[in-house]
Amino acid sequence: MLTVRPEPSLDPQLLAEIVREHGTPAYVYDARVLDGNVRRWVEAVGDPSRVCYAVKANYNLAVLARLASHGIGFEASTVGEMARALAAGIAPGRIVLGGVPKSPQAVAVGIGRGLDLVVLQAAHEVEAAIEASTSLSGAPARVGLRVRPGIRAGAHPSLETGRADAKFGFGPSEIRDAWEALSRTDGLRPTTLAFHLGSGLDSLTPYEAAIDVLLGIVGDLEASGRPVRELDLGGGLGVAYGDTGSDLEPADLVRIVDERLAGSGLTTRYEPGRSIAARAGTLVTRVLYRRERDGHPALVCDGGFTDFGRYSLYGAQHRIEPLEGRLEGPETVEVLGPTCESGDKLGTGRRLHGVQPGDLLAVRDVGAYGFVMASNYNARPRPAEVLVDDGGWKVVRQRESLEDLWRGETVG
Ligand SMILES: Cc1ncc(COP(=O)(O)O)c(C=O)c1O
Repeated sequence: MLTVRPEPSLDPQLLAEIVREHGTPAYVYDARVLDGNVRRWVEAVGDPSRVCYAVKANYNLAVLARLASHGIGFEASTVGEMARALAAGIAPGRIVLGGVPKSPQAVAVGIGRGLDLVVLQAAHEVEAAIEASTSLSGAPARVGLRVRPGIRAGAHPSLETGRADAKFGFGPSEIRDAWEALSRTDGLRPTTLAFHLGSGLDSLTPYEAAIDVLLGIVGDLEASGRPVRELDLGGGLGVAYGDTGSDLEPADLVRIVDERLAGSGLTTRYEPGRSIAARAGTLVTRVLYRRERDGHPALVCDGGFTDFGRYSLYGAQHRIEPLEGRLEGPETVEVLGPTCESGDKLGTGRRLHGVQPGDLLAVRDVGAYGFVMASNYNARPRPAEVLVDDGGWKVVRQRESLEDLWRGETVG
């Protein structure tokens, strides 16, 4: 079942008012959209602690704190993301250190920090966890293993992570030895098998195929007297970014997962990122000037791929809307960034009405994998981030200053 794409929540006048004070480009997040998306997940799963927001999608501290107010957990893929979650006031016992490649030092930090769960995804991480557990004095640390189920999920190739040739996790035949090694270690309690098929999926079918692979492994481990308690199904639900289409619903995923796992005794955990944060964000950029390219008009803006890279990285076509309503047009335009690369684009083939230099454009649904992937290339300060709530709005990350660009450097 698919749901209809919601209308943009942040109205043009409010966005224009915000950037009048704080300049462009600027990210603006709607806290009410974050709330709504978390509630959809929590209602579907039935227990907030089993919804672990993927911190990487948007780790502004105010966003994390807002999400934490719903009682959910958090999945950090690095020690840096874990530190951000802690800095937002989230207790270690609500944080999962996820199954993304980690150094032995990072594994040791996770094991020693009293986290909810540490997911290990390579033999050297298992060795590091066993080594780190010897320094624990309290309860054993909960650990899990990431499985590479060998499933093509239909996402952009760069975002596919569960294929047989992916760099993540253990192949099904490698799990048994790793699980046994963890089970034999007093300081560790293996509970969980995890997978993450990829990000931006537009179908639930790959989850069913992956669960079947995991159930085979669970049966094998159970037969050898090493039961598995939990499946962590990662994230992945896609968002329809364009002018048409619809989003996948958490409730539909949970229903098929629960049906598949009925009678298995396994509990479940999810790590949604994009489906919580994407629709909450808008990037506001100003048109610097127009020019003709290959006979087509192009709008060169003050925001580009250093601020929002999803078109340049994945060809993602986000909705782009002028904030000023004009009647002329429409015309088909390219929306370009200002940097020194020809590939610096926010979108192509857009039907926009009479946009003039100085106008503001809103790039929609950029709350996930937006600011977190911004760079300082061309020595461009990263944009401000603003959070809008019922009670108004506030800047939750200042625009970087020029001095921020060389902080920590020395001249010789
Ligand atoms: C291990 C893991 N869990 C969860 C996620 C979040 O995925 P999404 O934002 O598609 O929900 C990712 C994204 O890369 C991931 O690597």
